[in-house]
Amino acid sequence: MDQMNPNKALWEKGDFTRIAASMRESGEALVSTLGITTGLKILDLGCGDGTTAVPAAKLGADVLGVDIARNLVEAGNQRAAEQGLTNLRFREGDATNLVGLQDNTFDLVVSIFGAMFAPKPFDVAKEMVRVTRSGGRIVMGNWIPNDPTLVAQILKISAAYTPPPPEGFISPMTWGIEANVVERFASAGISGSNISFLRDTYRFNFAGGPSELVDVFRRYYGPTMNAFEAAEKSGRTEDLRKELEALFESQNTSRRKDVTSIPATFLRVTVKVN
Ligand SMILES: C[S@@+](CC[C@H](N)C(=O)[O-])C[C@H]1O[C@@H](n2cnc3c(N)ncnc32)[C@H](O)[C@@H]1O
Repeated sequence: MDQMNPNKALWEKGDFTRIAASMRESGEALVSTLGITTGLKILDLGCGDGTTAVPAAKLGADVLGVDIARNLVEAGNQRAAEQGLTNLRFREGDATNLVGLQDNTFDLVVSIFGAMFAPKPFDVAKEMVRVTRSGGRIVMGNWIPNDPTLVAQILKISAAYTPPPPEGFISPMTWGIEANVVERFASAGISGSNISFLRDTYRFNFAGGPSELVDVFRRYYGPTMNAFEAAEKSGRTEDLRKELEALFESQNTSRRKDVTSIPATFLRVTVKVN
């Protein structure tokens, strides 16, 4: 795969495992609602190091995790090996073109804050539908633009410090707009009546204070790393740090000083594939 692919470079730049560590409980809770049974064939697309793929495999599903970032695929395979999950494997791939995956294969395609970050959203919708078997489902978790909760605000603040994206760039956040989701799946042959939406919540649980969690995002989360790099060049590092700290502190619901717990709202999309 082309190392100059900016989408791949963004996610290999940091180390998302450091953020994912604070998302494990929510990943497990979400997976427990998916009706997973032994032998169900699942594709977890944009799987990271397996926050949802690992609990799905623990429920007995046959899980393939696909992610564009080589370091996250390695981390996922390591977690699968450590946990003795022989029904779970991870491999590199791009949601815009799922080379090597046959049509009509998976009972369930899951993509939690994953495929939304790929470019070419119409291609992504087509690929997800193509690899889902008829009678199967697609479940996406997508952050919502302008939502007041954590992740939408991190991305909004980060974008304000980062140079504008190239012309024609489609914001990942548009996957959090119902009309866009319907349009993208319609172009892949799915009727709007087969798509349902629900607002759901992920909770970031971190063993440390809010400013330490900001530091984790600053050091390991690609979009925030880019924002800090740009802010440094324009002498605005402190402004960005303060803005993010104020956000994390205001959203923290933990009463303990050594623990941060922040809920974040997302759009949960379920698509029935005929
Ligand atoms: C916010 S992380 C979420 C990871 C994981 N789903 C989780 O819940 O922890 C976004 C993930 O999408 C992956 N990703 C971004 N663009 C992708 C693409 N075009 N194809 C496959 N994966 C992609 C990134 O490498 C990263 O692991």
